[in-house]
Amino acid sequence: MRMSAFPPDRTAVKLASRILAAACVLCLACTSAIAQQPYDPAKADPADFTAVKQVCTVCHDTSRLMHSRPWRDWLNVLSQMSDVGARGSDEQWDHISRFLLLTLTTLDVNTAPADEIAAVLQVGDDVAAAIVARRSQRKFTGIDDLQGVAHVAPDRLINVGPRLTF
Ligand code: HEC
Repeated sequence: MRMSAFPPDRTAVKLASRILAAACVLCLACTSAIAQQPYDPAKADPADFTAVKQVCTVCHDTSRLMHSRPWRDWLNVLSQMSDVGARGSDEQWDHISRFLLLTLTTLDVNTAPADEIAAVLQVGDDVAAAIVARRSQRKFTGIDDLQGVAHVAPDRLINVGPRLTF
């Protein structure tokens, strides 16, 4: 297996298209179910968290990375970690990126690029485009407002809700 540094050309755009194999369908969410839950890594896709443990615990434990931040900050962290010696296969970097996007990435719905919206909310490119179009007319005021346009799956919203800002 070829182990390499985090590829600098990797972007949320490419990730979104892979992640969306499990795209959500239209659904009516009960947004009142959203709680400010701390992130529980046990809820992550085991394949994703395994790659994190393999690549990211060589020098420190995972508590070092359990702080949410915007995707552009994660890209900086990953290139910094590569600079100090973190190495993984392409597949491991994909899993790590997916883990970070799905569980530890914050998203400002009113300013984030469409590809990040698609990847973090787990919606299709068409829905992400609709969000961008709507906010250019009128900013989103909160999750209920967003849900009127985006129909994010309820279980996704419970996970991602606390990391959304407006
Ligand atoms: C080769 C050793 C090494 C590996 C492997 C490694 N790190 Fe680090 N990491 C460090 C060092 C050293 C620091 C402390 C740097 C500092 O505080 O300036 C650090 C600090 C961090 C921080 C805190 C920095 C911040 O800005 O909050 C995060 C987050 C982090 N690592 C994430 C990761 C992730 C994610 C991976 C797996 C992709 C990883 N690390 C793999 C060496 C490593």
